[in-house]
Amino acid sequence: MLDSLQSFLAVRGLAPHGYCLLWEPRLIWTHVASDAVIAAAYFSIPLVLLRLLMIRRDIRFGWMIGAFALFILACGLTHVLSIVTLWIPAYGWEGLVKAVTALASLVTAVLLVRLLPGLVAIPSPAQLQRANEALQREAIERAKAEEMLRQSYKMQAMGQLAGGVAHDFNNLLGVIVGSIDRAQRKGAATPEGARALDNALAGAAQAAKLTHQLLAFTRQQPMQRALHDLAPVARAAAELLDQTIGAQIAIELDLAEGLPPCLVDRSQLEVALLNLGLNARDAISGEGRVTIRTRLHAPDWVELSVADTGCGMDAATLERAIEPFFSTKALGKGTGLGLSQVVGTIEQMGGRVEIESAPGTGTTVRLLIPARASD
Ligand SMILES: Nc1ncnc2c1ncn2[C@@H]1O[C@H](COP(=O)(O)OP(=O)(O)OP(=O)(O)O)[C@@H](O)[C@H]1O
Ligand SMILES: [Mg+2]
Repeated sequence: MLDSLQSFLAVRGLAPHGYCLLWEPRLIWTHVASDAVIAAAYFSIPLVLLRLLMIRRDIRFGWMIGAFALFILACGLTHVLSIVTLWIPAYGWEGLVKAVTALASLVTAVLLVRLLPGLVAIPSPAQLQRANEALQREAIERAKAEEMLRQSYKMQAMGQLAGGVAHDFNNLLGVIVGSIDRAQRKGAATPEGARALDNALAGAAQAAKLTHQLLAFTRQQPMQRALHDLAPVARAAAELLDQTIGAQIAIELDLAEGLPPCLVDRSQLEVALLNLGLNARDAISGEGRVTIRTRLHAPDWVELSVADTGCGMDAATLERAIEPFFSTKALGKGTGLGLSQVVGTIEQMGGRVEIESAPGTGTTVRLLIPARASD
């Protein structure tokens, strides 16, 4: 094989190509100049393609461009040999280079045909432009939808806020009306009547504070927080509840001594306790007990809890209890905003709410509030 190749390359007695042209200078130099220019052009094309591949490594079918570059390089070489064979009869070498070029061109052509569907599928600049425009339109639509969603969240939050305030106001009106009614029945001059009137006044004062809080909220002012011992807060809430809750339900206070103070908005905390107390009242049918307790939960946490001997909640109710507008009460009896208000208030104070409840065993709602060392 190697021997036959060697003899093919070294055939002797051949005349150089110039001889066929009778060494006619015009013919010789026309061939030389044309072949030289073609070869130079062929050699420059792979260089450009190679540079393109180096810069744009992301180009699909890059290997095809590489194969094409090699093929062009081989073509250039055949023209160089055409010049050489004018003087040197290296026809064997010329034939070999042509055969390699033929093979390369065949392979490139077949690959190109197979690649055609892929090449056709490459999006045209006009298609890309259209896709880009569609994307931009979609982005604008999305921005509009997001803006509408934001607006609807705002409206929802406004509704929740308005509902929450109306809810707490209603509770306080209940306290006021109930107490005045009691005072009227007992007679304002009696000690009981006087206590009821005091309670009505306390309820009205709370309602007034609520409007202040709302105003502060609309101006985005922070809550009016101060360091408070939670025992007097619990006592005041129990007092408010006492008149509203009915004689069949006993209110017990179980207050630990010497607890660290907490940074809270006292009035909001009282309203939260009132909410919990009214939930307890609704859960108790007939006689029952509501216990308001304070204790140290952990070194830096004070626990303020309201426990009742009411019906308790099943798992499904417990899971959704703090959800805004969730209520199991008859239409007009409950807005479902009580517990969500309580959770909102306590979280604003940096605390958290835990609820323990089961059907038949009553409910305990624990407000865990971070304590502050008083200084
Ligand atoms: N102490 C409790 N005992 C049993 N169930 C309770 C108790 N507290 C809350 N729940 C349940 O959780 C639900 C949600 O309570 P939430 O206070 O948020 O609203 P509501 O009491 O139904 O309505 P509103 O507070 O406007 O009167 C109640 O409907 C009730 O089913
Ligand atoms: Mg409630």
